[in-house]
Amino acid sequence: MKYQNEIQRRRTFAIISHPDAGKTTLTEKFLLFGGAIQVAGAVKSNKIKKHATSDFMEIERQRGISVATSVMSFEYESSLINLLDTPGHKDFAEDTYRTLTAVDSVILVVDSVNGVEEQTRRLMQVCRMRKTPVIVFINKMDRDGKNRFDLLEEIEKELSISLHPMTWPINSGKDFKGVYDLHNKGLRLFTPNTKATDEDTISVSDLSAGILDEKLGQKDADILREDVELVEGVYGSLEKEMYLSGEVAPVFFGSAINNFGVKEMLDTFIRIAPTPRSRETSTRFLNVHEDKFSGFIFKIHANLDPKHRDRIAFLRVCSGKFERNKYFHHVRLDKDVRFSNPYSFLAREKSVVEDAYPGDVVGLFDTGNFKIGDTLTEGEDFFFTGIPSFSPEIFKEVVNKDPMKTKQLEKGLLQLTDEGVAQLFTQFGGNKKIIGCVGELQFEVIQYRLLHEYGASVQFNTLPFYKACWLTSEDSKKMEDFARFKQANIAEDKDGHMVYLAQSEWFLNTERNNNPDITFHFTSEIHK
Ligand code: G4P
Repeated sequence: MKYQNEIQRRRTFAIISHPDAGKTTLTEKFLLFGGAIQVAGAVKSNKIKKHATSDFMEIERQRGISVATSVMSFEYESSLINLLDTPGHKDFAEDTYRTLTAVDSVILVVDSVNGVEEQTRRLMQVCRMRKTPVIVFINKMDRDGKNRFDLLEEIEKELSISLHPMTWPINSGKDFKGVYDLHNKGLRLFTPNTKATDEDTISVSDLSAGILDEKLGQKDADILREDVELVEGVYGSLEKEMYLSGEVAPVFFGSAINNFGVKEMLDTFIRIAPTPRSRETSTRFLNVHEDKFSGFIFKIHANLDPKHRDRIAFLRVCSGKFERNKYFHHVRLDKDVRFSNPYSFLAREKSVVEDAYPGDVVGLFDTGNFKIGDTLTEGEDFFFTGIPSFSPEIFKEVVNKDPMKTKQLEKGLLQLTDEGVAQLFTQFGGNKKIIGCVGELQFEVIQYRLLHEYGASVQFNTLPFYKACWLTSEDSKKMEDFARFKQANIAEDKDGHMVYLAQSEWFLNTERNNNPDITFHFTSEIHK
């Protein structure tokens, strides 16, 4: 019974946003509510400040800090919340995509002034693909933002998701007076720079009541009455199932910096957010309540000290109980492994953990045994699906500047790409090594780390590709012909799967039209 209770009380999620929308601020408020930190300002932002973008050492240093905040676990009410951090910098978007494979839901922060931004769009694409339940927090209501109806329409349209307002704002900017809680029928008043308390909430069972005019002034009270009538007419009540299937996203309005609207969202979150979910594997559907342990690696973090090449692999527990010093089966390597010092992240302190339950994340010391997506079980052979690689956006050829260090270079490239720093492709029929990344910064990181950790000196030559597509076909002859004719654009990924490297959308569309028997996939998932 204890085991089932442990599952039921867990909520594992991530906060995602475009940089600067308020993710760090919101995280901090959550931790304050959870008692995991005592004072504001305690969370070291792992966001990389805009002006520091050229200084990748600074970025690596900050990534080091972010190991400690990779997972923040805290108790709230009787729930155990695992908040998985995601890097804010867009060049590390791939890290964020992978973290999304390890969570059961997300909270999306949207800046009320800027609305939907580039990074929001991309992250939500991944959520939609995985049908991840989403709660939206519209932040910075204390600033003159977009019209509330326009903003909702923009989010719905741009992110292809239906919204369901849970609270409704009264003005924005310097006239922001607070929110009306559509669910609990209460008015929550906003006073800038002061923390909202329960006394600031007035229960309003009848919107025509005079108290509304008294608190808001007649004009704003009338606007609110009209808005609420309209909103309730359009949206009705929230259907939890629609939220859980990722079709409808509840929306809250607030101001993270003023700690306004945050508690309501957190309270709703623990009430409706999914408990650890069952998952698909390569052989069967795995029920989270099964008592045999299973889990997968979704992130690997290198030690920053070049003398120690050990790494921390982050394991998400999917079923059963993870135990310290117990042998588990490493499916890909077909060998049994055990861990004497697994970390947990409760209250943001790394401490050795004895056991962990579904939804939890455990940090494992790794000397090179793991790569992203690896599965651990109690003996059964399967691996978890739904942990794809996405197409990189920048491609460069690796040029070895020191032929004496060829072996070191190969080892370094393999290990760094196992960590998920970048993707490695090998030119078809040749030996050219191609690195694909989401951002320019990773190339600097790779060059630096190859030299300092492996003694290998490289230079990169930019290649004119913009996207990688994984290819499949029922007709192996057609695939062979295509690969031969298009040799300059064909490569193999690390697992030996065939990939087409497209110069532009036009080329990609042309090849797709000319080769109807070949399917072009935008993630590597098809091979799992
Ligand atoms: P991020 O992690 O999503 O990148 O954003 P972060 O929380 O760091 O917030 C970005 C900026 O927005 C910060 O200001 C933060 O103080 C501010 N902010 C967050 N929530 C609100 C809000 O509700 N209202 C207003 N007006 N501002 C908000 P900064 O000047 O960039 O950083 P800092 O010097 O304050 O740390």
